[in-house]
Amino acid sequence: MSKELEDFKSKCDIAKVVSHYVSLEKVGSNYRGLCPFHEEKTPSFYVNVDKGFFHCFGCGASGDVIEFVKRIENISFVEAVQKVAELCGVEPPLMSKDTFYLKYVSLMELIASNYAKVLFSVRGDEALKYLIKVRGLSKDEIKKFSLGYAPINSDVVRKSAKELKIDENTLIKNGLLIRTKSGRLIEFFRNRVIFPVKNSSGRIIAFGGRSMGDDEPKYLNSSENKYFSKSKVLYLFNKKKVRDAGFAIICEGYMDAIAFHKNGFENACALLGTGLTKNHVDMLKSVTNNFLFVLDSDKAGVNAMKRASKILATEEINVKVLLFDDAKDPDEFFSKHSKDDFIRVLKNATDYWEFYVQRSLGEIGDPVKAILRLKSSISWVTSTVLRRQLISKAARILMIDEKDVMYELQNSVKESKKKKKTLNRVEDIKMNLDDYIVYLLFYSEDMRERIKKHLDDVSVISPFAKKAMDIVNSGVTQAQEALKMMSREDGERFFQIFTKGIPDSNIERVYKLCISKLEERKLKHRIEKVEREMVSTSDHELKAKLIKEAMELRSLLKKKGGASRG
Ligand code: UTP
Ligand code: MN
Repeated sequence: MSKELEDFKSKCDIAKVVSHYVSLEKVGSNYRGLCPFHEEKTPSFYVNVDKGFFHCFGCGASGDVIEFVKRIENISFVEAVQKVAELCGVEPPLMSKDTFYLKYVSLMELIASNYAKVLFSVRGDEALKYLIKVRGLSKDEIKKFSLGYAPINSDVVRKSAKELKIDENTLIKNGLLIRTKSGRLIEFFRNRVIFPVKNSSGRIIAFGGRSMGDDEPKYLNSSENKYFSKSKVLYLFNKKKVRDAGFAIICEGYMDAIAFHKNGFENACALLGTGLTKNHVDMLKSVTNNFLFVLDSDKAGVNAMKRASKILATEEINVKVLLFDDAKDPDEFFSKHSKDDFIRVLKNATDYWEFYVQRSLGEIGDPVKAILRLKSSISWVTSTVLRRQLISKAARILMIDEKDVMYELQNSVKESKKKKKTLNRVEDIKMNLDDYIVYLLFYSEDMRERIKKHLDDVSVISPFAKKAMDIVNSGVTQAQEALKMMSREDGERFFQIFTKGIPDSNIERVYKLCISKLEERKLKHRIEKVEREMVSTSDHELKAKLIKEAMELRSLLKKKGGASRG
């Protein structure tokens, strides 16, 4: 983001802007209110003024002040900036035009066409055979979808960049070139069939690359950047075709979307290996209210669909779900069946909420157990209308009276209310050592590296701190991104911690304190271990040795002032 825009944002009071639309109450250092992006009765929408962003724990909506206005007003980014400026009485920044965008898409398009050239050259012989013989595509189809091949020692990216006078650093920054452990630069896609991915303006912004053998991972996607985010793109999404068809088909894989298009269903698109997001729904909703999800028949497909419930619940759309009983995915279906066969099985599509209840109930041999499973699956539903609908569906499936289902569910409502109360109490937490560690892990890169050096033994930190550590180690170091990877409960705690706002001037002190407490904990662990061994051994010589060691450790602990609790 440009400096101008950062400056502008820092001058705008996000709480002021949000209060224009949502009534907020102050809780600790945050504001809280009912989320405007989904229906709820108890507030789970938070605004943090210091860091200038909002986050909803109910639906996951999250972003800065501009994102908020953009979404609530359903306007473009540029319009949202103007609006924020008006609401705050701040001069809007001169929006410098993003000149790199055009360069980026031209590069991606040149790379794509070069990958395609390679596919039809000698070097692409094996890949072409794979697409034709194994995947059943014709040469025309391969051209139509602009498929390509990144060869084994690919130089395609570098050659294309050279032609456009784009430097290596730009390629590295965008993940097109990567550095090996030995320091050599190699291209990200090597020996993979390439699927170009277009944005809604039809420009190529990323690639998917499939290995041909059993190489893992099966698919690689370009790394995300300003122009490409898996959560905002649908492969082969064609607005016009969807509008004409009157419904959208959403499937899970590149090859599935291609199979649909090949068979004349050009209203099909695919997610790029992620769950459905609000962004996806908005994109689709701009042209149709009728969604048909055609799932893979494995558990993952079904679970991902179940997870979409919170997003789908807030929308006025017709959603249907279809699973094939004789094919694992649409690609396989069309390898055995015709277009007309698909139209015939279309009538097997289930209403989404019917599907949701069915899958939540699971085995219905024991209805009480089934309702227990449903209980936990629908505990998030705050809308009484939806809740009643779900209950009535469950009653019908179980062939028992609605009142009986309701009776069983009643307890769960009470339980979840109780849980909410304890969650809200988290608001004025006192930070403990593990919380401080989490705070420092997300404070700055330098701090992260320093604290990590002392976290060699994760058995001494809490499971929560360990989770934070795992997230950081997976490469996610932005607090807002991390938040999205956590369960609601962990997320709430995390939010409290990192919005607590330790003054920068105190950080070194906090860091030192953490280190000393950590070392103390490690020492205590060692003492415990030695003492356990001491008690359990019957070897006198060893026992004497262990007693001595324990005493030494204890005196070390005392020196460190380890009487305090860590
Ligand atoms: P699937 O594992 O269902 O593969 O992944 P598929 O689409 O049937 O692939 P084929 O038919 O074997 O070629 C579904 C989607 O999940 C993403 C890809 O977008 C893929 O199309 N995915 C899958 C990845 O991003 N990485 C992977 O390693 C696997
Ligand atoms: Mn497949």
